[in-house]
Amino acid sequence: MQRLVTGIQPSGKPHLGNYLGVMKNQIAYQNDFDCYYFLANLHALTTIKNGEELNRLTIDLVLDYLAIGLDPQKVTFFKQSDVPEHTELAWILATVTPHGLLERAHAYKDAVASGKKEATVGLFTYPVLMAADILMYKPDLVPVGKDQKQHIEITRDIAEKFNHNYGETFPLPEAEINEDTAVVPGIDGQKMSKSYNNTIPLFAEPKELKAQVMKIETDSTPLEAPKDPDKCLVYQLYKLLATTDQTATMANNLKAGGYGYGHAKTDLYNLLHEQFEPLRQKRIELSKDIDYINDILNTGAKKARMIAQQTMTEVRHKVGTKI
Ligand code: ADP
Ligand code: TRP
Repeated sequence: MQRLVTGIQPSGKPHLGNYLGVMKNQIAYQNDFDCYYFLANLHALTTIKNGEELNRLTIDLVLDYLAIGLDPQKVTFFKQSDVPEHTELAWILATVTPHGLLERAHAYKDAVASGKKEATVGLFTYPVLMAADILMYKPDLVPVGKDQKQHIEITRDIAEKFNHNYGETFPLPEAEINEDTAVVPGIDGQKMSKSYNNTIPLFAEPKELKAQVMKIETDSTPLEAPKDPDKCLVYQLYKLLATTDQTATMANNLKAGGYGYGHAKTDLYNLLHEQFEPLRQKRIELSKDIDYINDILNTGAKKARMIAQQTMTEVRHKVGTKI
């Protein structure tokens, strides 16, 4: 079975864009790959500077993934910080990483240019820790969003540097980027994103969910008039979740006239409620059993560490920190 590794940053409430863009695929992979998924809490330290908040966000993310169907029997699910070998390897890799390679990283340049993040050393060396996260497990594939493509290229460059100096150690990992996943529009028509405040949160309570759906922007075509489904944002969102038949029904209703945007919104809300309310309920149940969550993370960390320790024994011998 091919091995797959990915890190997920605890950064707040997941929305429909995150779910359809990446989370759903990650859950699907668990059936066909040997998966290592970890909560990238050390990476999150570059943005979250409050211990309680980071802890809460990390637990929230575990609940989110369990609620959408991550099976801890199939996926080795753990916290990055529970496998301290990651930071040791990151240091060793830093000593073979050319400074110029990191200077070219878009994520760092963008974060600093936008003034959103402080230009810390941690933010600058972020890709090196990411390379350590990945190379540690010698994976075949790293499933990530398009925004992470350059980080995987940097990982490959770092692996080549290490192999060149110390002999063949790390196979070069491939990014697995799903090019045809749709960019999910937000309720204002721009890309759905936490930073645009235009999201449909996955686990919103029914009242909040309804309020968000009702806010979806529409034009002023009157109820009786026929409408073009392709210009209707409600329909764009609906068809991402609906069956072919349901999608055809809404398209026909819009084209026929006598079916207003309010009706379409109600249909969308009902569909969202039907699909996500059971997951929200499951999430509430899971949140009552913190011991169970800790058990999952501890078991995951133990499994991950077995591999991490093997890799580190090999690396320490090669670099000469252990004879
Ligand atoms: P946000 O923009 O809300 O902060 P993130 O940057 O945390 O979202 O995104 C996490 C992952 O979800 C990324 O890998 C990205 O590819 C995916 N993603 C985010 N927004 C969307 C969207 N609107 N459509 C599809 N995928 C998305
Ligand atoms: N940088 C990734 C992100 O922001 C998270 C991440 C950390 C990661 N380490 C990783 C992703 C290793 C894949 C592999 O989404």
